[in-house]
Amino acid sequence: MSLASRFAAVVALSAIVSGTAGPARADGNVARGKDLAYTCLGCHGVKDYKNVYPTYSVPKLAGQSPAYITAALLGYRSGDRSHGTMHAHAASLSDQDIADVAAYLGAEPLKASGKPPAASAPEAVQVCVACHGGDGVAVLPDYPSLAGQHADYLARALEEYKKGARKNPIMAGFVATLSEADIEALADYFSRQSPGLETVARRTSRFSAR
Ligand code: HEC
Ligand code: HEC
Repeated sequence: MSLASRFAAVVALSAIVSGTAGPARADGNVARGKDLAYTCLGCHGVKDYKNVYPTYSVPKLAGQSPAYITAALLGYRSGDRSHGTMHAHAASLSDQDIADVAAYLGAEPLKASGKPPAASAPEAVQVCVACHGGDGVAVLPDYPSLAGQHADYLARALEEYKKGARKNPIMAGFVATLSEADIEALADYFSRQSPGLETVARRTSRFSAR
């Protein structure tokens, strides 16, 4: 498929996806979410903290939206995303807990800029921009931002979709045609975009309860 027709297919698909009403979501309570997030910050609040066996960076969460954080936690809870520790944490959370913790962690999502990809971007990035933005900032709250995320985590996530260890019908289609070299280049590109995601700070005004 030519790049132009792949892009057209992506735009058509994202129109379908964004036109579909998602499951009803409870409103989160930021103050309660702050208490619930205490254990999470043991990993997500430590700069450059690593997962071991296999070793890769724990993802940055500050700058993601409540809708995406909720979707990710539901994925770990149901097993659509396979990760032992995150499954155990998510399994201990009720739907209301997830809404609350997502409201706290997602308090300041990055704002989509509508910027096209930088001139240095790998060609394959054209397929991603309809959802993740040319600069890695998600165009809708349901999609994750990739800007500033650890490159090793992004590459690992793409490989997990490719292997089917992360089950997501949208991403499965997009990773299928990516080579290892594409994955490395895309992860590197998005990780360098700024403004970008940050490690959740333990004590800053940005993350104090409102
Ligand atoms: C022991 C360390 C650890 C703790 C504690 C922990 N996490 Fe995680 N978290 C991880 C790792 C590692 C990943 C990446 C897993 C993978 O590869 O899918 C992750 C992934 C996530 C993601 C997905 C991020 C993305 O970009 O898709 C979210 C959301 C998340 N964690 C929220 C939480 C919340 C909320 C808590 C507390 C209830 C928590 N985590 C506790 C290590 C941890
Ligand atoms: C039609 C919209 C769409 C397109 C196009 C798209 N994605 Fe995604 N992407 C998503 C959604 C939705 C998720 C969250 C899936 C889930 O819940 O696991 C996601 C997740 C991801 C993640 C995991 C992020 C994290 O924090 O764990 C990465 C990395 C990613 N996409 C990269 C890409 C790349 C690279 C491309 C282009 C080759 C691409 N995506 C194309 C919608 C899209």
